[in-house]
Amino acid sequence: MTPSNGPSRRSALMKIGIFFNGAVGVILGVPIVRYILSPITRDRRAGDESWVSLGPLGQFPEGQTRLATYRSPAASASDGETAKIPCWVRRIDSDKFQIFAINCAHLGCPVRWFPQSGLFMCPCHGGAYYSDGSRASGPPERGLFEYRNKVERGNLLIQADRMPTTGAPVSRLTNISLDKPPCA
Ligand code: FES
Repeated sequence: MTPSNGPSRRSALMKIGIFFNGAVGVILGVPIVRYILSPITRDRRAGDESWVSLGPLGQFPEGQTRLATYRSPAASASDGETAKIPCWVRRIDSDKFQIFAINCAHLGCPVRWFPQSGLFMCPCHGGAYYSDGSRASGPPERGLFEYRNKVERGNLLIQADRMPTTGAPVSRLTNISLDKPPCA
């Protein structure tokens, strides 16, 4: 090695080292940045939330609670009947609804509506809920999970891409009507 090419080789090695360090930094940094920004991008995606029709309003008489099913928007063609998800539809008045997940808030058994007693009952451990989905008795610590819903062109729609979870509202009306302004 001659003294004259020492510094230039050192600087070339340094540039290569900086390049590789930068590349490794980008490879490691992109997933971290995506993770940090995920709440923002998730909220933005929520704007394209998929609303699924449960059928025309005429299927749901006022003052009654009926079982309905919808096809999961995440299902593929090969899922067949397993893609059908049941839910309970309570029509309070003309365009006010509550849509409950069928699963008990305790351990997820399917609850059944008993119009005679005005209660949802869970067959597994005796959990009971009032007609508005709030907890009546038994092991569940909260009311039934609810879907967001809206009425559009005479059809009842639910926001099915977001399954009700423990973060969902408890027995709170989540109805949005597009046929009438909110104060009409
Ligand atoms: Fe319903 Fe336990 S799963 S009470």
